[in-house]
Amino acid sequence: MLLLRAEGLHSCTQMAWAKYHRSVAEILSPPDELILFCGMSIGFEDLTVNAPRTGRAPLEETVTFVDDD
Ligand SMILES: Cc1cc2nc3c(=O)[nH]c(=O)nc-3n(C[C@H](O)[C@H](O)[C@H](O)COP(=O)(O)O)c2cc1C
Repeated sequence: MLLLRAEGLHSCTQMAWAKYHRSVAEILSPPDELILFCGMSIGFEDLTVNAPRTGRAPLEETVTFVDDD
C-alpha cells in the first residue's frame, strides 16, 4: 500500500470478501487449499466525495525507529 502511494495511487483493504470466499471460488476456481482472504481496491481517491476521515495517531506514538549504527 505504501508502494502504491509512492506511485500516486490509493488503496483500500477489504477483508469482508473472506465471508464470501465460496461465492468468489465459483468464479475464480482457486486451488483447493486456497481461499480468497483479503481483497484490495486500487485506484485514485475521489477528492470531491465528502467522506469522514479516520484520524491518525502521531508517528512517534506508533512507530519505533531502530538505528543499527
Ligand atoms: C486488513 C484490513 C482489512 C480491512 N477490511 C475491510 C473491510 O472488509 N471492509 C471495510 O469497510 N473496511 C475494511 N478495512 C478498513 C479499510 O481498508 C480502511 O482502513 C478504512 O476504510 C480506513 O481508511 P484509512 O485506513 O485510509 O483511514 C480493512 C483494513 C485492514 C487493514
